[in-house]
Amino acid sequence: MKINTLIIIFVLPIIILLGILIFLHYQKSQLKVMDNNLTIIQLAEPKRRGEISFEETINQRRSVREYKDEPLTFSEVSQLLWSAQGLNQKGSRVVPSAGALYPIEVYVVVKNVEGLASGVYHYLPESHSIEIYLQKEISQKLADIALGQEHVLEAPVNIIISGVFSRTTNKYGQRGIQYVYQESGHAAQNVYLQAESLGLGTVVVGAFNQSGIDQLFNFKEDQKVLYIMPVGKNSFYKGKNKNS
Ligand SMILES: Cc1cc2nc3c(=O)[nH]c(=O)nc-3n(C[C@H](O)[C@H](O)[C@H](O)COP(=O)(O)O)c2cc1C
Repeated sequence: MKINTLIIIFVLPIIILLGILIFLHYQKSQLKVMDNNLTIIQLAEPKRRGEISFEETINQRRSVREYKDEPLTFSEVSQLLWSAQGLNQKGSRVVPSAGALYPIEVYVVVKNVEGLASGVYHYLPESHSIEIYLQKEISQKLADIALGQEHVLEAPVNIIISGVFSRTTNKYGQRGIQYVYQESGHAAQNVYLQAESLGLGTVVVGAFNQSGIDQLFNFKEDQKVLYIMPVGKNSFYKGKNKNS
């Protein structure tokens, strides 16, 4: 038998079969993202290397309140959530935490993201996934609670940084309260820098009605929203490596 015939009989079917298996696997992971009946959605693997240097990112960071009228991608949202509270290469969180008690819980309010239905999702750091938390669009209510700030309404997503105080106060007493606020700053700064490095823009919003927002998220008394971070494609972004 000629070598060409052997290839056609044995090798080609294996290649075709592998192709079909890869295609089916891809379809399955896409379905997972699109189907609202599944409560857990696996996020895209975070990138561990960016396109601009750390120093450039710090140098360029500023608060951005105007966004292009465009959706964020699924991988951009995955990356932002990872930067807020994901796991690093050592398997611990990307942010420090007093006593490693991790009181910070992160949510994302989705208005316009490719492959994700509108609603509120809760980030699960250990599995780098999100669970559906509220199946309703709350951007207007969120903006009203944030004293009518338009960037909250207009952003395709708002990242919510919250704190569960007892996790830290059970060990540290009163001092634990300040630790939780301090930790929210670490998460927020990571999101600022991650957004900048992706060509996105964000701002920390601290002006909101505390009881109104905690009720909107159905939080128990022990959990409070600490920051709202609207994120969108930066209207003023001029491309990479601008050192101004
Ligand atoms: C604790 C805190 C609360 C803030 N709250 C708001 C806010 O509610 N709305 C807003 O547009 N910006 C808010 N900001 C962003 C500041 O206005 C902004 O950081 C400041 O003007 C400096 O600009 P820069 O971030 O571009 O350097 C807040 C910043 C901090 C640190």
